[in-house]
Amino acid sequence: MFFSPLCCLVLLTARVWGSPTTKAVVLFGDSYTDQSREHSITNGTYPGKDYQEVYPPTDVAADGGFQWPWYLGIYGNYTIWNYATGGAVCSNDLLPSFTVPDVIGEQAAWFIQDHVLNNGTKNQKLDMDPSEFVVIVFIGTNDVGSSSFVTDSQNATVSIADLANCQIQALRNLHTLGARRFIVNSLIPLQLTRLYSTSSAPTIYYPSPHDGVAWNKRVINFVHTLNALIRAGVGELNDEWQGTAASVEMFDTYQLFEDMYNHPANWFNGSIPANVTGHCHQCPDPDDYTQCGIGDCTLAERDSYMWWDELHPSEQTGRNLAREMWGKLKGISQY
Ligand SMILES: *[C@@H]1O[C@H](CO)[C@@H](O)[C@H](O)[C@H]1NC(C)=O
Ligand SMILES: *[C@@H]1O[C@H](CO)[C@@H](O)[C@H](O)[C@H]1NC(C)=O
Ligand SMILES: *[C@@H]1O[C@H](CO)[C@@H](O)[C@H](O)[C@H]1NC(C)=O
Ligand SMILES: *[C@@H]1O[C@H](CO)[C@@H](O)[C@H](O)[C@H]1NC(C)=O
Ligand SMILES: *[C@@H]1O[C@H](CO)[C@@H](O)[C@H](O)[C@H]1NC(C)=O
Ligand SMILES: *[C@@H]1O[C@H](CO)[C@@H](O)[C@H](O)[C@H]1NC(C)=O
Repeated sequence: MFFSPLCCLVLLTARVWGSPTTKAVVLFGDSYTDQSREHSITNGTYPGKDYQEVYPPTDVAADGGFQWPWYLGIYGNYTIWNYATGGAVCSNDLLPSFTVPDVIGEQAAWFIQDHVLNNGTKNQKLDMDPSEFVVIVFIGTNDVGSSSFVTDSQNATVSIADLANCQIQALRNLHTLGARRFIVNSLIPLQLTRLYSTSSAPTIYYPSPHDGVAWNKRVINFVHTLNALIRAGVGELNDEWQGTAASVEMFDTYQLFEDMYNHPANWFNGSIPANVTGHCHQCPDPDDYTQCGIGDCTLAERDSYMWWDELHPSEQTGRNLAREMWGKLKGISQY
């Protein structure tokens, strides 16, 4: 045989993912992606249908500035629909101690309000061409984190497998609504953050002593387990959607972050040598968040840091992610 099935599958993938017609990107997630929604909720400005992103200097995201979807929009000239909300998990039904709008529930409902015409009727219709937008889901950090699996705070009947199934089901629900192009980001190597390092000292996100060595081992286990299960689920979804115009790919955020950590000089460009172990934003007293900001790095130094604070990637890390994601949408990223 001259033409193996592999040849045509590759061609098809290139056509879908190398499509020059991507006009919009729809994002679901947590503080790693949120620009200002969570702050807007706290503000009392409920971010419903007519919510608009609030950008620096009026409000800064959890990376200390502009969040990566903003850069992605500029790099690729995409319209960005960012439903991510700081503090979110995939499902508040699975993890009832979380109350911020979740990916599979309230965040998906905002997408419906914004983009599904005549929802729930026989004339239901998407207001975007499914070939012209990509859905990105980037969730899981809080699901496995220090208010959940890392501290054994989750409901006793819930497992990491449920977290993976939630992400896959969230994609399936959006597919039912008519979305056809999907990317799921793997979890980052959380063990590289100060919060999940081997240190047992208090941090602003967990201001009590704890067994850092145990946390570090647990988070490595959970991140790898969840990533493996999501990868398997993504394969199953592609099987399920075979013969339709739909496809889903993983974006290997884990590997991208490992590469930044291992080859920092290629990725960081502030005024001091690259720093992938510390963080710019300081909270000198973990019991007093009003002191946060005292001892921060300078503006000129910021882009040298991989991390903004004890949990969040920096703005320059976000630019790197945006650039690689732009490549992914053009079908040319190694991640
Ligand atoms: C919070 O409220 C103030 C005053 O109404 C407004 O200027 C600001 O943009 C709001 N911030 C967010 C993140 O919604
Ligand atoms: C950016 O996208 C808009 C809307 O899709 C389009 O009208 C415009 O021509 C694009 N600009 C460039 C420079 O490609
Ligand atoms: C969409 O329609 C379904 C079915 O009627 C309903 O359950 C759901 O609440 C609606 N969602 C929104 C965001 O209106
Ligand atoms: C699990 O969560 C449900 C719903 O919040 C609750 O009814 C149940 O008691 C919880 N079970 C455990 C073992 O915590
Ligand atoms: C670092 O590089 C980014 C592009 O990745 C650029 O936008 C930013 O301004 C640079 N930072 C500094 C301090 O030069
Ligand atoms: C990285 O940054 C932290 C926080 O500013 C600092 O304590 C540490 O010494 C820096 N590490 C290197 C290798 O410069």
